[in-house]
Amino acid sequence: MPVSVLDVRAFKERGTRFAMLTAYDVLTAQALDEAGIPVLLVGDTLGIFVMGHPTTIPVSLDVMVHHCQAVVRGAREALVVGDLPFGSYQVSLEEGMRSAVRLLKEGGVGAVKLEGPWFELAERLTASGIPVMGHLGLTPQSYHQLGGNKVQARTEAAVERLVVEARRLAATGAFALVLEAVPSEAARRVTESVGIPTIGIGAGPHCDGQVLVSSEMLGLSAGPRPRFAKTYANLREEVVRAARSFAGEVAEGTYPDAAHSYDWSLRP
Ligand code: KIV
Repeated sequence: MPVSVLDVRAFKERGTRFAMLTAYDVLTAQALDEAGIPVLLVGDTLGIFVMGHPTTIPVSLDVMVHHCQAVVRGAREALVVGDLPFGSYQVSLEEGMRSAVRLLKEGGVGAVKLEGPWFELAERLTASGIPVMGHLGLTPQSYHQLGGNKVQARTEAAVERLVVEARRLAATGAFALVLEAVPSEAARRVTESVGIPTIGIGAGPHCDGQVLVSSEMLGLSAGPRPRFAKTYANLREEVVRAARSFAGEVAEGTYPDAAHSYDWSLRP
């Protein structure tokens, strides 16, 4: 049975820590699904890790729908969550509803994620049968307002506000909450204050689940990575090594050899 939002809620009730990873394409989705990752997030970070933008802000709803479709085709068991991109829900409740409906109907996802304290929208979505994952702390779509991707909730007042917002989001019927770039202690207080699972990214060890950007976790991305972005493979090095080997064999004339060429028997 594919993972549902009820299963994700039950993780917290049972005290089961769980992983979420981003996926943007079918092959990655297949591999992560095979690894048993229960939740795949088609994050708007694809603007950075697929499209090469400096922030997530330029990502359009059409692009999100396109990538959600690919990931959904690759996920047999995992719950696929689609990010509502910047501009697709901030203008009006109606537009937010329409955008989420598109991610479900056209993108095929089982839930949507939205950044920030948009309580009324979250309530309308859940009341309409659209599962919502919240996202508080650092909300990268507010890059310009926040003055960059900075750690949030660093004062007692900010932590209290975070706890209040998390409670209000949980009360809208949201099934889970991403907490990004907040001190471990702030995440612990939120996690203990809400009945839905918190999923941390740069939020320390006290969250119910953890999420990483797969391109960073797999060591595919170049350049400096944030402190929390642990790498579990070095795929970029592997890709460079493989591409150089191929180019070297082509230059030497050793590829293609007989084993990789067709003969008259036309064996495939
Ligand atoms: O867009 C994204 O990939 C995200 C994760 C970093 C949580 O929101």
